Order: sequence, then C-alpha cells, then structure tokens
Amino acid sequence: MACYLLGIDIGTSGTKTVLFDEKGNTVVSATREYPMYQPNIGWAEQDPGDWWEATYTTIREVIAKSGVKPADIKGVGLSGQMHGAVLLDRDSKVLRRAIIWCDQRSAAECEQITSLVGKERLIEITANPALTGFTAAKVLWVRNHEPETFEKVKKILLPKDYVRFKLTGEFATEVSDASGMQFMDVPERKWSDELLSRLGLDKDLLGKLYESQEVTGVISREASELTGLAQGTPVVGGAGDNAAGAVGNGVVKPGIIFSTIGTSGVIFAYSDKVSIDPLGRVHTFCHAIPNTWHIMGVHQAAGLSLKWFRDNFCIEEKRTAQLMDVDPYVLMDREAEKVSPGSNGLIYLPYLMGERTPHRDPNAKGVFFGLSAKHDKRDMLRAVMEGVVYSLKDSMEIIKGMGVAIKEIRASGGGGRSRLWRQMQADVFGTGITTVSSVEGPAFGVALLAGVGAGVYKSVEEACEATIRVTTRQEPDMALNSRYMQFYAIYRRLYGALKEEFSNLAALLNEG
Ligand code: XUL
Repeated sequence: MACYLLGIDIGTSGTKTVLFDEKGNTVVSATREYPMYQPNIGWAEQDPGDWWEATYTTIREVIAKSGVKPADIKGVGLSGQMHGAVLLDRDSKVLRRAIIWCDQRSAAECEQITSLVGKERLIEITANPALTGFTAAKVLWVRNHEPETFEKVKKILLPKDYVRFKLTGEFATEVSDASGMQFMDVPERKWSDELLSRLGLDKDLLGKLYESQEVTGVISREASELTGLAQGTPVVGGAGDNAAGAVGNGVVKPGIIFSTIGTSGVIFAYSDKVSIDPLGRVHTFCHAIPNTWHIMGVHQAAGLSLKWFRDNFCIEEKRTAQLMDVDPYVLMDREAEKVSPGSNGLIYLPYLMGERTPHRDPNAKGVFFGLSAKHDKRDMLRAVMEGVVYSLKDSMEIIKGMGVAIKEIRASGGGGRSRLWRQMQADVFGTGITTVSSVEGPAFGVALLAGVGAGVYKSVEEACEATIRVTTRQEPDMALNSRYMQFYAIYRRLYGALKEEFSNLAALLNEG
C-alpha cells in the first residue's frame, strides 16, 4: 500500500511544504514567501493570514504536482519559526499581526517577568531566564501597551499552531515549541500553573499540550476542501523548527551537534537530561522525543545578515542570477571565495536584530570593524559570512563548556547548502562538518514525526535510522583554524568594547 508523509515548515522567509515517501525521499516540494514587517528598529511582525495562505496553496501545489492520491498521505507534521505570539479573539479571529521570534521590544517585560516569578524560580520552572525572544514577554508587552487588544484575547498560539488550528479546528501545541513560550514547566513537560498564576494569565488561553509525535487532530472538512488533503488525515504535534530540523538531521542521540544557518543561526545539542547554562546564554527546551531535552544557542541574524547584504548591495548579482537561472547566493559564494580567509582584516558583528547567545542584548547592532579604503564589496561579503560563523562558534564554546561531547557537526538550513559556508564552519570550529541525505531539515523532521504518529515507524529514533544517512563530509584545515582564531579573538572582544555605546545609541533612538 502506498504511503506518503507531508511536512510543513512555517519559516520566517516563507512556508515550505514537502511530500516524502516512506523511505524519506522527497517527492515534491513547494515554497511560498511572505514579508516580515519592521514598524520600528528591532521590531518584527508577520501576518498569520500569510502563513495560512502559504500553507494551503503549497499543499494544493504539492498534491497536484505529485499526482499522489490524498488518501495515501498517512500523516501531516507541522514545524515552524518558534516563539511568535498569535493572538485570537473569541471568534478565533487574529487580533493583531503576530510579534515574532526576532522582535526585541520587550526588554521591560523581561524584567517584569523576572520580578513577578523570581530569577531563580523562573529558571527552575522554565529552564531559562526571561528573554525578549520568548513568547511570554511579547504577550506581556501587548498587555502593557495595547490593553484594549489584550482584553479581547481568548487564545495565544505559536505560528505553526495557528496553522494547525486552521487545518484541524484544534487549539493544540507540543512540548518542543511550547518550551519557548516560557509558560511551561520544562523539566515536567507540562504547563506551569504556578508560573501562569504569577504572571496573571489563565491556562485556558493556551492550547492543549502534546508530545511531538502524538496526533493532535485531523484534517477538517473545510481544510480538506481548501488544501486537497483527505478529511480525517492525522496531524501530529510536530516541533519548533530547531527540534524539527534536529530530527530531520538525525540529531536524536548524544555526540552529534547540529548547526543551522536559516534566518537565525543555531547550534543544537541533544540531551537526555535537563541541563541548564547557569548564565542563561543558551536555551534548554524539550526535544521532540519523549523524555529528552536539548540545549541550543541562537543567533538572531545569521541568514538574515546575508539576505540583508544581498538585498541592499547585490542588486547586480540578483539580476545576473535571474538571467542565468541560478540562486543569487551561488554567485555571491563565488565572489566571497576570491577573498582570503579573514577578509583582509574586516570583521563583521551580525547583531542586526540585537543578539541572544551569548550577549542577551536587544540593543546590540551590526558592525563592520576594520574597514579601510582598500576593502571592497567582496571583502564585506566574506566578512558577513565569517561573522555569522564566529557567532555560531560562541554557542559551540558554551555548549562544549557544559560538558557536551561533540563528535560530528551536521550543517543544515539554507546556509548549510553553501559548500563555502560549510568549509568556513569546519575551519572555524576545528571539527568535521557533514550533511545528510535529506536537505529538507525541519519539514523532513516533522514528516518523520507524522510517520511515528501514524504508525509507519515505531519510534523517532527508528524513523531516523531508516531514512537518514551522511552524504558529505568536509574536514577542517587546522592551519586556517589558527588564522581564524586570531580574528575570532578580536571578534569576541569587540562586543565588550561596544556594549555601552549600543545602549547609548538605543537610548538616542528611543528619544527620537
Ligand atoms: C529559536 C528561534 C529561531 C526561530 C527561527 O529560539 O528563535 O531559531 O525558531 O525560525
């Protein structure tokens, strides 16, 4: 009997829907992009209606192109950008644009959460300090600044869980993504009554909490008509995009670390216990496998930095790429390759959207340091790529310092597709970098979870074993590693030197 699984990843730059066969091969994939709105510096919002439209149109496209019978699609998995606050009224209508993960407006609300719950108790319950990136601070911001909107809120959902609601009619979430709302008792894997009562929030505002492979609902009649999926098809919990990407890369056991360069940059490690960085520089969340957790460092503007550079400075490359029918990033890689490692002394700090790991500083800003008249656009391009890898190195060092063994690093995300960017990672980390058979990361991970929920595989580990193999490996050049480490030492000191000026600048902008 034919068996297919559908993975949907509601990302920041777009939604990607991919149909897989039982062996993990991609049958068809479709993507639709949408905008991110930045009404103020450091603010970031998206329209949940855009996510839903991108989801149902890409599902329709995938089904039509594949020719697969909808009844042969045995399960649907949802992955998505984490932390965004989707606020619904009593008619389940969206009340305002979602404030998304990279938004930095809620520093005061982080202080409010810390004082309401207590610094130590907050970490005991949620395994993390209060951060502007997490959902709780965004919700409190709306309560403090838009009370007339907050009064009408009846449900608070994460981005992929809003799409789940549209597909199934259910208000539900799962532990990996919900960990990042900061309303959960992360060690116990359930909503925290204590925390919610200290924050003055009602548990009914939240969806029902599941493990990632559990079935949370089925495709409704309305969604079936709109998407072409069979009514009654099970939809599993799925996972936040990082836990989903980890499953899709086989990061379901100790020793393998996963590095992503998507819009954000992430270093992710599996853990079979709740392991917390006492300085709160990396996050501890539930993994998408029962009884396991993960540690991850998050960088706000990884792929976002290169996209910013492409859109502002590479208009010519974009035009040429269109004529050649290739991705502009391919041409940009070729240019960056012509510059020697270290970018002739130019160092880039990728703090375009503030920074989480390791600085936890919403006021941090991007910097080119060391510019001289001899530098050109190519040096700047390579410096952007190197700066992003240096930021990932910051996370890698913290995770290593927590005693996590690192035998292999698997590269993923759009940036993981660049051979040059992968080699920079190998050289800067001083560790081999691999890639695996499926390049679909989060969409693949949640399709595997859907397979577990639908009974196609017995467990997440078995699903990964059956479908994932390492396909490329790049070794580090240790001579280059030593060279990079000299620049990295300067990179590390630059934030400390500029910290106060970042905050002075932010104060100036707030006055204006
Ligand atoms: C993780 C995070 C980002 C988003 C991006 O904490 O905020 O990686 O999930 O999609």
